[in-house]
Amino acid sequence: MEETPHRRRAHTRSSDLERYAGLFAARTGVMRSSAMRDLMAVTARPEVISLAGGLPDTSTFPAGTFAAQMTRIAQESTAEALQYGPTEGFAETVDCIIEVMGAEGMLPDPDDVIVTTGGQQAIDLICKTLVDPGDVVICEAPTYPGAVPVFCSYQAETIQIECDGEGMRIEQLEAVLGRLDGEGRRPKFVYSVPSFQNPAGVTMSLERRRRLVELARQRELLVVEDNPYGLLRFGGEPVPPLYQLDGGDFVIYVGTFSKILSPGIRLGWAVAPPPVMEKIVLGKQASDLCTSTLTQHFVREYFSERRWQEYVADLAGIYRGRRDTMLAALREHFPAQATWTEPDGGLFIWATLPDYIDTGDLLARALREDVAFVPGQAAYVDEGRGRSSMRLNFSGVGDEEIREGVRRIGRVIGEQVELYGTLTGERAGAEARGRAPEDADTAETPSADVLPFRKEGAG
Ligand SMILES: Cc1ncc(COP(=O)(O)O)c(C=O)c1O
Repeated sequence: MEETPHRRRAHTRSSDLERYAGLFAARTGVMRSSAMRDLMAVTARPEVISLAGGLPDTSTFPAGTFAAQMTRIAQESTAEALQYGPTEGFAETVDCIIEVMGAEGMLPDPDDVIVTTGGQQAIDLICKTLVDPGDVVICEAPTYPGAVPVFCSYQAETIQIECDGEGMRIEQLEAVLGRLDGEGRRPKFVYSVPSFQNPAGVTMSLERRRRLVELARQRELLVVEDNPYGLLRFGGEPVPPLYQLDGGDFVIYVGTFSKILSPGIRLGWAVAPPPVMEKIVLGKQASDLCTSTLTQHFVREYFSERRWQEYVADLAGIYRGRRDTMLAALREHFPAQATWTEPDGGLFIWATLPDYIDTGDLLARALREDVAFVPGQAAYVDEGRGRSSMRLNFSGVGDEEIREGVRRIGRVIGEQVELYGTLTGERAGAEARGRAPEDADTAETPSADVLPFRKEGAG
């Protein structure tokens, strides 16, 4: 094939920077890149084993089903599928959303729903609607790394509340709310990923959920519940979403088809009380007019086959196996002082290394070994926190690559631990746990030395 000619830009010169710098909006000064997007470029190299992305395994989706559905759309709905659509989304897409939320016990009013370009746009639109520069937003520590650039670009003052094995520590939240009261400040919302959190893999306990919803009611405080993973449970008992506990008065809900169907279709949604929804719709009109009508048709077709729950159950089964593989590999290859979470669902494990290891530096070394993870710092707004933690994804690659990827990361950690031992004269526990997977504890029964979460205030 002939190569298409295109203009190649020479390196940006300092005169170029000066020319544009005076034009930039103030918010660009605090904008941050999404660590994952940066990593995507590196991990696209086929030789790299990526435990960095949050990728569901789309290879499990039957190609024949996809082809048949797209053909049907072409045959029956070409004109509509290629046309603009309503900003709120098609009523049929909303019906599918109601069905998905119903599977977790939620009963939203269809008029409260907007179809968005992924859950990511829903977070962006909520911030666009509610956040002025300097406003306080509260979230978990660590939080979803993709939310950090959104909070930064709206120039929010973001306060992060520690998590432990039961999710956000609500007593710390209460203390922060009390302090803000004293300063006469009212946070715009509390953002939480309560189920199988990205990045930590932890799930907020029912007791804490109840307390959070109660606080929201008492204080008329908005809570943004972001729940991409709730249906991807492969262990433990289901816990009701915050939206269900609250009934939708103070909880704004964010959902997505990305993890239960496909991220490539870029379909998510938000559910909010009418006055908030009205503004969100205006914000979306300004952003992109409407969500892809073509992929909304695809979802409609797919749901009409009534097999979506089966597919989600299949995915959960696959991910359970991969989580077990990763846990076994961590026991075998990570040093004795490392700790990690043991999720009952979702896509991620959060591992924490000795304090003297910086996972940002470690990533550079790991990439030389052709393996990638997300450094913990990406999950914090303020520089410095999360420096010795990492997010590991177990859904995007197969068992063999998980084992090999963790082995390579374990090796670069081992080198760091050795180096530390040499420099300080301390025997720093370089030896890996060294337990063969078969004699390691099962994933359902956490071993006593695997802490559910990092120590409070550490890092
Ligand atoms: C917690 C959370 N929220 C939102 C998103 C965005 O997903 P999407 O825009 O693909 O729906 C993700 C993706 O990984 C996520 O983990």
